[in-house]
Amino acid sequence: MATITERPIVNIARQNLPVCVVDDESDLAEVTAARLERLGFPSVGTTSPNEALAQVRAGTCRVVLADMRMPVMDGFAFLEKSLQLDPNVAVILITGHYAIDSAIEAIKRGAYDFLCKPLEQERLVRALDELAEVFTRRSQVRVLDDQLLSNLEFEGIVGRSPAMLEMLDMARKVAKHFTNVLVSGPTGSGKELVARALHRMSPVAAQKFAVCNCSAMVDTLLESQLFGHVRGSFTGATDTRPGLFEYADGGAVFLDEVGETSLAMQAKLLRVIQNREIQRVGSPEVKKVNVRIIAATNRDLRNEVLAGRFREDLFYRLSSLEIKVPGLSERREDIPILVRFFLKKYSEAYNKTFGGLTRRAQIVLLHHDWPGNVRELENAISSAAITTTNEFIDVDDLPVNLRRATERTSGGEEIWRPLPLQEVDRIHIKRVLEMCSGNRVRASQILGIGRTSLYRFLKREQQHSNAKAVQ
Ligand SMILES: Nc1ncnc2c1ncn2[C@@H]1O[C@H](COP(=O)(O)OP(=O)(O)OP(=O)(O)O)[C@@H](O)[C@H]1O
Ligand SMILES: [Mg+2]
Repeated sequence: MATITERPIVNIARQNLPVCVVDDESDLAEVTAARLERLGFPSVGTTSPNEALAQVRAGTCRVVLADMRMPVMDGFAFLEKSLQLDPNVAVILITGHYAIDSAIEAIKRGAYDFLCKPLEQERLVRALDELAEVFTRRSQVRVLDDQLLSNLEFEGIVGRSPAMLEMLDMARKVAKHFTNVLVSGPTGSGKELVARALHRMSPVAAQKFAVCNCSAMVDTLLESQLFGHVRGSFTGATDTRPGLFEYADGGAVFLDEVGETSLAMQAKLLRVIQNREIQRVGSPEVKKVNVRIIAATNRDLRNEVLAGRFREDLFYRLSSLEIKVPGLSERREDIPILVRFFLKKYSEAYNKTFGGLTRRAQIVLLHHDWPGNVRELENAISSAAITTTNEFIDVDDLPVNLRRATERTSGGEEIWRPLPLQEVDRIHIKRVLEMCSGNRVRASQILGIGRTSLYRFLKREQQHSNAKAVQ
C-alpha cells in the first residue's frame, strides 16, 4: 500500500480521478470516501443514487463506487443510467453477496469492476490506480487531438487527407497571384470556403471580396447586381447604383455557380475579363475596373462547353488556374477531424459540452456516402447537437436518412418494391431535397430538372397532403 501512495506520479494521476461513493448505509459511504481522500483521490460519499447521477451528469466524478442493493435504484439500473449520461464514467459495483454470475453480468453491462464487501482496500486502490492512468493517458490524447486540429485547420478549412493537403498547397501557391481562378467541386465540398481563403491569402486581402450567386436570379437582376444601373434604366430602378465589379475594384468578385449563367451573361463577363471594363445598365459610360474573378461551379464546365451551354473562350479565361475541391467520399479520413471541428463549433454555439460521439454513431458517419459532402456532415452534427439530451451523440440523434443507411447496411439490401415510376420519382426527389437540407435550387441542379418543375412537384405534394388531411 505505502509503496503505491509514495510514488508522486501516481499521486498526480490520483488527483485527476474524482470518485463518488454511493451506498445506502451513510457510514459506509462516508468512511470509504474519507479513506480514498487520504490516499489522494478527491472523493465524496452519498446515500442518494440520484445525487451520484447528478455528479456523473455534471462530470464532477470519473469513478463511482456503487452499492448493488440500494432501495431507490439497484446497482444495475444505476450502472445503465450512469453510462447513458457519460459512456466514459467508470462504475465499480460493490456487493455484499458475491456470485460469479453477477460479476460476469456486471462486466457485460459495462461495469468497470465488481467487488465484494467488506472492501479489500488493496484491490480497490489497484483498480483506481489503473483507472487514473487510463484517464491521464486519455486526456493527453485529447490535448494532442486539439493541437492536431489546430495544425490541420488552415484558414478555417479542416483537412488531413492527402487530397486536401494537395488542394491546399495548390491554393496557397495560386493565391499569391492576381489571376482568375476556377474553384470546382461537388455541392457542399467547401468551394466558397476555399474562395474566401484564396482572397485572404492574396496580395489584395485588404481590398473588398464581393459575392454574387449567379444561379439565384434572372439575367436582368444579375446584370444590374454585377454591373450596376442608372436611375430609370428599368422599372424599379429608383436610384443609380454601382455594381459588384465597381464595388470590389482592386479586390475580388466571387462568381458562385458560374455554370448557371446564360450565354448572354457569359458574353458580358468575358468583356470584363478581356477589356477590364464595365458599363452600368442604362449608361453609355464605360468604366475601367481591375478585379480578380474567383468563379465556382459544381458542374463539369468542360461538358457544358461541349454541350454548347458554356462559352469556350470564357471557360479558358476563367480556368487558367483551377482548384478542384474533392468530395467527402474521396477523403473519408477527414471525417473524424471534421466531426471534432464541428462538435467544437456547435458546443460553443449552443453552449453545451459534448464528450463526442458514441462508437456506433462514429461508424454510421464513416460509412455514409455523403452526397451533400461537408455541408451535409456539418448539418448532421449541428442538428444532433441541438436535439441530443446526452453528452454523447448517438445514432438516434443523427438525421433520419443516415439512420436509414444503418438499417440498410445492417439489414442487407434495401427492400425492393414494384412501384409505379411516378412513386419512384417522388421518393427520389424527397431524398435529394432532404440531402440538400431543403435547398430547392441545389436540389433541382442535382436532379437535373428546372426549378419550376421542382416547385410544381412540391405544390402537387402539398395539395396531395392537404387532400389527405381533409379525408
Ligand atoms: N474543409 C472544411 N473544413 C471546415 N468546414 C468546411 C470544410 N468544407 C466545407 N465546410 C463547411 O461546409 C459548408 C459548405 O461549404 P461551402 O459553402 O464552402 O461549400 P460549396 O462547395 O460552396 O457548396 P455549394 O456547391 O453547395 O455552393 C460551410 O458551412 C463550410 O463552412
Ligand atoms: Mg457555394
